[in-house]
Amino acid sequence: MSKKILLLGGAGYIGSHTAVELLNAGYEVVVVDNYSNSCEESLHRVEKITGKKLAGIYEANVCDKEALEKVFSEHKIDACIQFAGLKAVGESVQKPIEYYRNNIDSTLTLIETMKKFNVNNIIFSSSATVYGEENKVPYTEEMHRGRCTNPYGWTKFMLEQILQDAAFANKDLAVVLLRYFNPIGAHESGLIGEDPQGIPNNLMPYISQVAVGKREKLTIFGNDYPTPDGTCRRDYIHVVDLAKGHVKACDYIFGMKGVEIFNLGTGTPYSVTEIVTTFERVNNLKLNYVYGPRRAGDLAESYANSDKALKVLGWKTEKTLEDMCRDSWNWQKKNPNGYRK
Ligand code: UFG
Repeated sequence: MSKKILLLGGAGYIGSHTAVELLNAGYEVVVVDNYSNSCEESLHRVEKITGKKLAGIYEANVCDKEALEKVFSEHKIDACIQFAGLKAVGESVQKPIEYYRNNIDSTLTLIETMKKFNVNNIIFSSSATVYGEENKVPYTEEMHRGRCTNPYGWTKFMLEQILQDAAFANKDLAVVLLRYFNPIGAHESGLIGEDPQGIPNNLMPYISQVAVGKREKLTIFGNDYPTPDGTCRRDYIHVVDLAKGHVKACDYIFGMKGVEIFNLGTGTPYSVTEIVTTFERVNNLKLNYVYGPRRAGDLAESYANSDKALKVLGWKTEKTLEDMCRDSWNWQKKNPNGYRK
């Protein structure tokens, strides 16, 4: 019997790519999403790519206990992956209470419901942001978490702590915390990809929208950082590699108890300028960009040591920066308005 995985926030950017890889690997997949920052269309495309059906699709808020109980009573769930959450760093500074309420409440409701239905495996979408400002790159999983610079980051920090406390108290619980670095790219079919609402906060969607003519120009935030070319360096990871990391985490979680933490990054940093020039080169186009002042809260460098995921999960990234830039553009070009017609 194949195992059934519940994806909370499964219609979003990382959730939809993970759904594809889980279905390809032979897992059954159920999705809960309230489409607050996603569309059901992405799930139809997941089915198109894989030629397989999702075992269930529910429109619900993860904070809604009754709705979650309905899902758990209709499906025997083996593990949950908690992707659902608000994720815009700048917005979280303006609306901290909304971020704390939504991100903490949804995950607490999920853990309580799992307990009620005796589901003991949870994989949580965490972030490199929990390394804070104090730690030195490359980040390793056993470093102490640092001070976050915004409420979004603090929700990840707090939820890591909450899940660790839950696993300490309940010895049957298995928790995998996945610390994502900077996911970019899209499925090579161009059918699913990142679909931000309004003005994109993140670099790659902004670049793609400049390339497609939706935004006039990219502003590179700061070129006076202590890095080789003065622009910030990040660990960009292809979203399909990231999704495959979740499959490995699912394979692993059924044989463990307690908490395991994994960085999901390539271990190789690239600067903003390198991203821009690579995007131009592989896609054979010119991007309109200017250098501007630094953005508040940005670190000069953030990148992973990803040895643990290789050693324990047998996972490593396979895609190159060229693949990431090509696949981001392929998605944007084919879907200039995202999932909306
Ligand atoms: N950047 C620009 N111009 C833009 C957008 C971004 O120059 O218009 C630069 C940023 O200054 C930064 C780099 O591109 O140097 C990457 O910025 P992103 O916003 O794409 O990503 P961040 O590294 O800031 O944020 C990511 C995740 C967050 C997470 C954070 C820390 O999006 O969820 O890493 O781990 F909190």
